[in-house]
Amino acid sequence: MVSFSNNDAVFTMTISLSLSSPFFFFFFQLLFTVRTTSFSPVDHFAVACGNLGNIRSSDNRNWTGDIGSRIFSPIEPRNGLHSVVVNASVRKTVPYGTARLSYSEFSYSFPVTSGRKIIRFYFYPSSYDLNFLRSDSLFSVKASSLPLLMDYNASLAADKAAEETFFKEYVVTVDPGQRLNVTFMPSVSYENAYAFINGIEVFSSPTDLYYPNLDNIITGSNPVSRPSPSLPSSKSSKNAKNTRVIFIVGGVASGIVVLSLILLLIFLRFAKGSVKEGKSWWGQKTVAMSKTRKTQGTSLLSSDLCRVFSIDEIRAATNNFDDIFIIGFGGFGNVYKSYIDEGTIPVAIKRLKQGSQQGLQEFQTEIEMLSQLRHNHLVSLIGYCNEGNEMILVYEFMANGTLREHLYNSDHHSLSWIQRLEICIGAARGIHYLHTGTKHAIIHRDIKSTNILIDEKWMAKISDFGLSKVGPSGILRSNINISTVVKGSIGYLDPEYCMCQRLTEKSDVYSFGVVLLEVLCGRPPILRAVERQQQNLAEWVRRCVHEGEIGPAVDPFLRESMRPDCIEAYIEIALKCVANDGNERPAMGDVMLGLEFVLEMLRNEEEISSDD
Ligand SMILES: *[C@@H]1O[C@H](CO)[C@@H](O)[C@H](O)[C@H]1NC(C)=O
Ligand SMILES: *[C@@H]1O[C@H](CO)[C@@H](O)[C@H](O)[C@H]1NC(C)=O
Repeated sequence: MVSFSNNDAVFTMTISLSLSSPFFFFFFQLLFTVRTTSFSPVDHFAVACGNLGNIRSSDNRNWTGDIGSRIFSPIEPRNGLHSVVVNASVRKTVPYGTARLSYSEFSYSFPVTSGRKIIRFYFYPSSYDLNFLRSDSLFSVKASSLPLLMDYNASLAADKAAEETFFKEYVVTVDPGQRLNVTFMPSVSYENAYAFINGIEVFSSPTDLYYPNLDNIITGSNPVSRPSPSLPSSKSSKNAKNTRVIFIVGGVASGIVVLSLILLLIFLRFAKGSVKEGKSWWGQKTVAMSKTRKTQGTSLLSSDLCRVFSIDEIRAATNNFDDIFIIGFGGFGNVYKSYIDEGTIPVAIKRLKQGSQQGLQEFQTEIEMLSQLRHNHLVSLIGYCNEGNEMILVYEFMANGTLREHLYNSDHHSLSWIQRLEICIGAARGIHYLHTGTKHAIIHRDIKSTNILIDEKWMAKISDFGLSKVGPSGILRSNINISTVVKGSIGYLDPEYCMCQRLTEKSDVYSFGVVLLEVLCGRPPILRAVERQQQNLAEWVRRCVHEGEIGPAVDPFLRESMRPDCIEAYIEIALKCVANDGNERPAMGDVMLGLEFVLEMLRNEEEISSDD
């Protein structure tokens, strides 16, 4: 931690004021103090890339994860491929244990004060994934417009240094009113090139700091790219005891200032909005959220809207995870119903079982995905909590539960044929959006009737993105597949994906076809306690169609109410979806249109029969 002996007095004063002042007053007081003493506060940002929430390194420093973070979520170009986050395959110290990797450029924007800043990049070159081999990383890094690294081969650098992990450090000068933007760009000279980063630290470099090797430090006016060999250290160390006191005071004070500034920025932002709208700044947040919900079928990059809850808030909302609030459970853990924001917003709180590495990965994927996706037919993530060992996700509450519980094995009234079709169309829209509506294709990988949720207006929404895979869109859409370990749910798994371990959007189409059959037949995809030929739903319906007698397979509740031509059209769509050969399956958009057509047929018929 950098110490600032000159400013101790100012800081101590601020701290005591802050303790005795009301919340808002504290900010104004701080602002005032900063201005009148013309003190430039200490910037210190430590970002653990590919991490979620706060994490402490072994040297007791706090790192902020960039997943879903309000300030440190990476900025990515609209049309590029999306970055992914990964865990290192072996245990590594913070920040080397996780990374963000991308085939496209991505940036971080640091809200720094003006002046000299030290930037430190942490790298652990490794084969993170089959798609990202150690030897393929080749990228450039620039700070605002200043190039720091050009076509940099991180694995080569690590090999040369005979180190697995290393960091590189630069000094740049930031002009007043500017942010410090750090951009990672995969090399264009090598086809498989990707960029990656494990951690970034940015902190102010005070003018009175002594640089052991000033010549080796890159300054803004000079793009010669040589890192400094050692960390900057404070030169005032005559009296060891005195230094330690200053160190601690400076450390605490700078921490408080950074925190206060972040709060101040948030406050100013909301205060600005509230003047315009005549609303309190707390209210503003809710307004922003409901605005987003109303946006019809569009995606918003909404990391701004992903809230971080404290474990105390969650405990208060669930009466310390009282069983009476449980509304669901599964391999991942329990789901609780509760309310937030003084009982005004109903939510579903998903508490993941503790200590599962698999769970952690899926938890991160879910936040990463959902904090960036907003669509009428996708369940909205309101926020998350990741404190201590707790991994908790907070979703909008879906009053009518899962699709499955309306189909079989429950006390619910059976859904009408029209209701079922509307739900299927909603779900199809959600999946279609995942496949084509975002800048990169997303494969859900776990489409099933328990992952299609229904809200109070009977609108279907896709949930559970823990297994989703983001494909580099160019690659997926030109039908080159992602190879991956097979995951998903029995009965819904695409047979081709199981055999060849190649994943495409068509795997979701297969699973959705199984759901369509479930909806029609009112039974699970796999039943064991029945005749062999009826055990697998898809096979059975195929056989029935082949034999020209579909009646026995259809949900008894629907049998009388369904017109044969509608059933035929519907079954044709469903069976196309579950074709064994992925190439024969329709795209999700076609499935959606087909279902809409069936619904139209049904409505027309109803009109005609009611006119009679
Ligand atoms: C940094 O990035 C932000 C957000 O994308 C942008 O508004 C700003 O102009 C950039 N600043 C510089 C100095 O590049
Ligand atoms: C990076 O350097 C390594 C040698 O350590 C080499 O094997 C690899 O091909 C290089 N990668 C690129 C993309 O040039």
